[in-house]
Amino acid sequence: MTKKWWKEAVIYQIYPKSFNDSNGDGIGDLRGIIEKLDYIEELGVDVIWLNPVYKSPNVDNGYDISDYQRINEQYGSLDDFKELLAKIHEKGMKLIMDMVLNHTSDQHEWFQQAKSAKANKYRDYYIWHKGKNGQEPNNWGNYFYEGAGSAWEYDQKTGEYYLHNYSKKMPDLNWKNENLKQDMFKMLRWWLDMGIDGFRLDAINRLIKPEGLPDSKRPPTPPVGIRGYVVDREMCANQPGIHELLHEMNQEVFSKYNIMTVGETGNVNSDIAINYVKAEKQEIDMVFHFEIAKNPVLVTVPQFKAIQQRWYGIIEQNGWITQYLSNHDSPRQVSRFADDRELHYQSATMLATLLHTLPGTPFIYQGEEIGMTNVEFPSIEYYNERYTVGKYYTMLEKGVSPEEALSQLRMMSRDNARTPMQWNKSENAGFTNGKPWLSVNPNYEQINVEQDLKGKRSIYQYYQELIDLRKKNSVMVYGNYRPVLAEIDHIVAYIREYEGVKWFILTNFDRVNTEVNIPQNILESKVAVILSNYPESESKLAKTMELKPYQTIVYQLTDLV
Ligand code: NOJ
Repeated sequence: MTKKWWKEAVIYQIYPKSFNDSNGDGIGDLRGIIEKLDYIEELGVDVIWLNPVYKSPNVDNGYDISDYQRINEQYGSLDDFKELLAKIHEKGMKLIMDMVLNHTSDQHEWFQQAKSAKANKYRDYYIWHKGKNGQEPNNWGNYFYEGAGSAWEYDQKTGEYYLHNYSKKMPDLNWKNENLKQDMFKMLRWWLDMGIDGFRLDAINRLIKPEGLPDSKRPPTPPVGIRGYVVDREMCANQPGIHELLHEMNQEVFSKYNIMTVGETGNVNSDIAINYVKAEKQEIDMVFHFEIAKNPVLVTVPQFKAIQQRWYGIIEQNGWITQYLSNHDSPRQVSRFADDRELHYQSATMLATLLHTLPGTPFIYQGEEIGMTNVEFPSIEYYNERYTVGKYYTMLEKGVSPEEALSQLRMMSRDNARTPMQWNKSENAGFTNGKPWLSVNPNYEQINVEQDLKGKRSIYQYYQELIDLRKKNSVMVYGNYRPVLAEIDHIVAYIREYEGVKWFILTNFDRVNTEVNIPQNILESKVAVILSNYPESESKLAKTMELKPYQTIVYQLTDLV
């Protein structure tokens, strides 16, 4: 297998708005990140991924870019950015930017020009269409939030509709236009020439829209709007032409630099994903799939194992994969997949062990390294995130009580991940001296960086150990992956093997004790415990073992027969 720095890296995702506020305006900023670089460096991570920090009216927290080459004033200036980049590099780390190529803000100069006249040279940078029988060009609904209506907006002045799969303030770009493509390639090179180390590519499999923009054949999505719009995310995903485009982007831009690219790809399974990430294809390095963290339905442990197995197939076919359990669009992993109360430490460390020892590049989302949890805000006014707020009101319209609506929405709200980083137990968790843009999680007095580091059992230190192990042991990166004990529902166990080194990872993904019979061939090997989240307990292998709640042990095996 080809060695690459980004296969070996551990990546730390920062949601700048919620990380650290240096100027008291209640919004995290670039100087705030600079202040915390030692903290990130000490964790041991190699790469920082920043959610969008470009100029933006913030209709979608920065995913609506109005100028790709300027920094949003709320985060600082381009000089601040350059200083951040230089300091990250001084520390031997790297920086990747979140790049949004599917749409711009409606405030972007291109769109302002495009809507000024049909003959404008930027008109075709976006997707314009005449109406059909006095209605929108097709039945697509946008996916900005539930019940948000059509994916088309009528422009009075020029008498045509433009496509916006997200907000009407985020028009979709037309990648079939050669000038747009070349302008984008130039812009990507501009960032890379500045020295950044790669991109997380937002909605990257949606850049090409289907020929003829046909209606979706699916039934209208509830709540059925006046026209019965269909929110069908498949329509613009993985369309013919997308691979040619990404290959060209790779050849014209990415391949000229020693960088990494990770695409955000909804509507992919592992069979589709391989076509984006197979090394020979020369498109992008890896993708984020939605099967675990962003699945609205909680996966069972057997499903979790099956998903791991399927995606590992990509590595066997000369591609690469990601591991993540949380990000800014999904709930906090410790609340979603395990126990964020009594078994908080065990849960957080068990999940961390899986994240770092399963095949693929691990992505840590800010705060997960101290076990930050979901938030339970008392009423809808505290929420900011549009899916939660939008869905809340459609539920009330359907007669659901406010309490019931909140209790249903809390678990999946993206605000769970976006509450400010909990640094200490001072007011606002040490995130800001002002009023935070989103309330801090009230549990910050118990869960915060200072507290975690003081404790006997520090989650941060456990992450440090895992990351350090990953640096020193290629088996964690390049080792092949062989599941064992697959038939026991709540056990996730596997062997990683590389150049004669064999590690056995044994995990109880359950809140109660679970008994396992260790396979004979494993029992016959010499065993050393590398890491465990119950260090005080007996970690020797025995024929029958009773694993404690969320217990996880990493063994080194020798003389395996
Ligand atoms: C995916 C991003 O992660 C999400 O936060 C954003 O709302 C959409 N793409 C639209 O850009």
